[in-house]
Amino acid sequence: VLSDPLRSVEVQLREAVGGVHGVVGDTAMSLVETGGKRLRPALVVASAIATRGPGAVTGLVIEAAAAVELLHLASLCHDDVLDCAEVRRGHASANVSWGNRVAVLAGDVLLSRAFCIVSELRSRERARFCQTVEVMCAGQVAETHMQFERSASVPGYQSAIRGKTGALFASSCWLGASAADASESLLSALERYGGELGTAFQMLDDVHDLRADGAETGKPCAADLRAGVVTLPALLALHDDPGLGELLGSDLDEQEIDEVRCRVLATRGGVRTLEIARGHVERALSSLSEVGLFPEGKAPLVSIAESVRQPVGLAGVA
Ligand code: FPP
Ligand code: MG
Repeated sequence: VLSDPLRSVEVQLREAVGGVHGVVGDTAMSLVETGGKRLRPALVVASAIATRGPGAVTGLVIEAAAAVELLHLASLCHDDVLDCAEVRRGHASANVSWGNRVAVLAGDVLLSRAFCIVSELRSRERARFCQTVEVMCAGQVAETHMQFERSASVPGYQSAIRGKTGALFASSCWLGASAADASESLLSALERYGGELGTAFQMLDDVHDLRADGAETGKPCAADLRAGVVTLPALLALHDDPGLGELLGSDLDEQEIDEVRCRVLATRGGVRTLEIARGHVERALSSLSEVGLFPEGKAPLVSIAESVRQPVGLAGVA
């Protein structure tokens, strides 16, 4: 039920970025074409269908779905500049291929094209989209403040990921439902689902970061430790291995990074993080059962949540 609408989203994405000339335009297009799971557009479309059935997928829904994906791609492109990341989705990141200047501008182009699309939406979806950009930036700023900081804390981490990742998941659901004229109770149930799902998703990403061999995630291993970002598995690892406190949040060399990575994985930090993530998925799912939804939209929302509850490739965590 999602595949036709998602094909329309792909067309809209290419149209949105197609007219930009020069290296910045080419870079923006290659970021669109390198793909990804298109999870956020799927949430927009599924939330619209869950609200009003398959007939709910209007041009407004497709536009909202394309805009959230462009925002997501822009944020990753800027994130790679901030993190000095070298690999994204198995390819050299834009900052490595074309340099920071082009990468920042390509991210700006993606963001401005998202705003162009959003300017055609209704005022409350427009306002929601703009607020989301601001909340994502605040989440990223919160994370940046904790970078190379010994005082990183679990509440600080939770609030940063709710902003940088949870907000766009929540808004994707909200926008899809709103474009389908959902009631307030439905809007808030779907928004809660998205926020909880996004939080769980980021926690999984943070466990993956410690384990990934690159093949599964298309990203290099231990990028967070390298960037001085102290994530939940590492924070929870301090319980079993308090000595790690000396190392976390420091500027580590490659040998120390590998030592910290192995020590974190030897604790229950990874398993505990997965348990906490699972709790968020449960809350996401229970939010869906609090309201009456069209099954054609509810089913994909449930299966997206289940794919986050039972992640592949993390079987061997501690
Ligand atoms: C990835 O985190 C980054 C985000 C989820 C959001 C980044 C947000 C910004 C840079 C600010 C907002 C930017 C715009 C253009 C509005 P990660 O580093 O944990 O994920 P990764 O492992 O995929 O790099
Ligand atoms: Mg990053």
